[in-house]
Formats: sequence, C-alpha cells, structure tokens
Amino acid sequence: MIELRNVSVKYPGTNHPALSSINLTFNEGEFVCILGKSGAGKSTLIRCMNGLQKPSEGEIYWNGQALSKKNEEQKRHVRREMGMIFQHYNLVPRLTVIQNVLTGMFGYRNTFKNLIGWFTKEEIEQAKQVIDDVGLTDFAERRVERLSGGQKQRVGIARALIQQPRVFLGDEPVASLDPGTSNHIFSLLKELHERHQLLTLINVHDVTLAKRYATRIIALKNGKLIFDGKPGDFTEDLYDETYGADKKTVLSR
Ligand SMILES: Nc1ncnc2c1ncn2[C@@H]1O[C@H](COP(=O)(O)OP(=O)(O)O)[C@@H](O)[C@H]1O
Ligand SMILES: [Mg+2]
Repeated sequence: MIELRNVSVKYPGTNHPALSSINLTFNEGEFVCILGKSGAGKSTLIRCMNGLQKPSEGEIYWNGQALSKKNEEQKRHVRREMGMIFQHYNLVPRLTVIQNVLTGMFGYRNTFKNLIGWFTKEEIEQAKQVIDDVGLTDFAERRVERLSGGQKQRVGIARALIQQPRVFLGDEPVASLDPGTSNHIFSLLKELHERHQLLTLINVHDVTLAKRYATRIIALKNGKLIFDGKPGDFTEDLYDETYGADKKTVLSR
C-alpha cells in the first residue's frame, strides 16, 4: 500500500540526514508503531508518507504509483486517504466538537462552501456518526476548549475518520496524555483499525503501548532503521540501543 524505496531526507543547513536510505513496505491491516528517541526521524518519516516532506533521495509509492510523479490535485487525493492525528490535536478551541469534526470534510469540498461554513444534512449526520464512534455522543455541541486532553484527541480521531481514510497516521498522538488515557486512545485506534481495515502507523514513545497494540514495530535511530519486526522480537537490548542513554528519561515519562 505504501512503499519507501531508499528514502533519505536531508534538511537544508543540517550536517546529518534526518532519514538515511529507508526501505519499508506497509500493507493494509497492519498496526505499526514507530519507536525512536527525539530527533530519530519519526516525524520526518510520517511527513514523507503523506507527501508533506519531499525525500532528498529515493521514492515513495502509494499503491504502486510514485508520489513524486503526482500533480498537486493527485497528491491532495492521496492525502485525503490518510487521516492524520497529532500530539497537540490541531483543533480550533473555540469551535464545538461537531464543527471541528466537520473541518475534516474540507478536503472533499469546494472552497466557497468551506468559507461560508455550510454543511449538508448528510455531512452533519456523518459527523454525528464518527463522534459516536469515538465515544463523544454527549459532547457534540461542547466547545473543544472545555474538553480534557483525551477527549480532544478523540475529536482529532473523529476528524480524521470523517475523511473515510484508508490509512491512519499518528505523530505522537498520546505524548501529551497520562498513561491510562493513552491506553484508552490506543484501544480506540485499534478498534477503528480493525473495523475499517485501516493501515495504522503511529509514532510513540511508550514501548509498553507499542508492544500491547502493534502488529509490527519499527525503530529508528539517527535516521536509520535499526529494527523492523514483531513486537515480541523487540528485546531489552534493542530497547537500549533505540533509547541509549535516555532510557531513564523515557521510563519516567
Ligand atoms: N524543518 C527542519 N529543518 C531542519 N532540521 C529538521 C527539521 N525538522 C526536523 N529536523 C531535524 O531532523 C532530525 C529528525 O527530526 P524529526 O523527524 O522531527 O524526529 P522525531 O520526530 O523522531 O523527533 C532531527 O535532527 C531534527 O532536528
Ligand atoms: Mg517528532
């Protein structure tokens, strides 16, 4: 479904590549957790996959077609199939849950309609449905600024879900949440992954969560792939290699 062939990214003005010669293939039905300490290249990898970051070398294929050969309209189409979830939610605090969720439809609609904020009955029904799906039925009309962190992330997930994506991409979606709430969010992501057969790719710091939910773990270090395999095969030694001297810091998060 998504294939990275020999992908490297070097940001202008930096000495070391953020990603070095990455080769990876992701298929439908996988729930992949990407591990690595800060600066390892996790966000860069996610941004490459949804076409927001152009590789300096190599190529990314979406269903066998090279992303670099697509025009802007075709890239937008690919991006619509990828629901993004962020650490800081990227919601509009003063808008209600349902209004925030409806902004997820923007990719599907023309600008004029977006500007006047007019949505069809069907779109509003769809929004209510995804709000139900993430367990926020009673909060649809509440302003996002009045929600807890976990509830905000549920709104983020609903907004991604309304796009009817085939892929869920999460850039540290639980990094600002407590362990219990993080577990609930992962459990929801797993449920949606199974129900919609989504390819799910998530950057996460918490190895316990990765081992509990992932079907596959990937670890990055200094932009290089140092592990790609089953959660059960991610050993203590690999953990040490991934997090190096920061182990204590990571464990205390
Ligand atoms: N826009 C940028 N310009 C320059 N360097 C960047 C930029 N974004 C990330 N980097 C660098 O690229 C490396 C990988 O960053 P990132 O992908 O954000 O890692 P992670 O998400 O694992 O923390 C880091 O060394 C970071 O400083
Ligand atoms: Mg990051």
